[in-house]
Amino acid sequence: MTTGTVPSITAGTRVYAVLGDPVEHSLSPQLQNAAFQAAGVDGVYVALRCSDRTLSPLLRTLAENGGGGNVTVPHKERAAALVERPSAAVRHTGACNTFWWEEGRLCGDNTDVEGFREALRLLRGTDTTEERILLLGAGGASRAVLAALLDGEGSEVVLLNRTVERARELSRELGSGRVQVAEEVGALRRESFDVVVNATSLGLSPRDPLPLDLDGIGSVDAVLDLVYGPRETALVRKARASGLPAMDGREMLLRQGAAAFERWWGRPAPLAAMRKALEDASGGPGVEEGGG
Ligand code: ATR
Repeated sequence: MTTGTVPSITAGTRVYAVLGDPVEHSLSPQLQNAAFQAAGVDGVYVALRCSDRTLSPLLRTLAENGGGGNVTVPHKERAAALVERPSAAVRHTGACNTFWWEEGRLCGDNTDVEGFREALRLLRGTDTTEERILLLGAGGASRAVLAALLDGEGSEVVLLNRTVERARELSRELGSGRVQVAEEVGALRRESFDVVVNATSLGLSPRDPLPLDLDGIGSVDAVLDLVYGPRETALVRKARASGLPAMDGREMLLRQGAAAFERWWGRPAPLAAMRKALEDASGGPGVEEGGG
């Protein structure tokens, strides 16, 4: 429970929701209500379980009434097809996670792309052009990461996935010649990377194996795990034990939420209040000292 004052909800309050299934574990309500309160805006944010059938009317009704929200698993691709004004990030990834109304149209963005970019910048302490990245996974999360990395000038990406064909497909679709696919981890024994990014789902369960044996790679400077949980993920723990700066998925969650806030309210997000809400809701800081 937050200690701030409860905002008074009136007929003018704008309603925002995260739409997904399941949705009850989403941290977005804590994150966004803390942001609304800190910024003093008249909005409220809830979680709504929604089906294929109810997605379209919910998107439109919430947005057309002055609100909006986020879309999560399994509806991001369908939402991308439903919005009338998709951002470049939605077009590149085929996924939409943020929606609102503007000039009589249902607008959509994929703020995971900006969220990843900001998290990476914080981890590296610089603008991350011309970095060499090892990207693990070839699903939706990986697609958002690739869109962010290939939008800049020079980053070079090596894609490693359990199902190699899926990595090849993603590389063909988004690669633009700057993505190589590794057939197997053994091929990377002598390779150097600035950052390893885990965009697989490995680490969500404490029983999962590590997504990668860091000792099996030539050299790595930093680790960004998109997975997060109540405790630091095994990959982040391992990286930090080896002296590497590492960050879990909460920073990206925070940054995608901040970008969404900015789309809805047209002003900078109250990042400190959002970070605190996320730490309270998820048990501790996501970025360690020295981690950026
Ligand atoms: P998301 O949208 O979150 O990326 P996804 O599309 O289901 O989810 O993708 C999950 C990613 O984790 C995939 O890259 C998947 O590898 P496959 O393409 O081979 O399925 C990866 N993944 C899931 N479980 C895995 C496991 N046990 N070992 C290795 N990779 C795994």
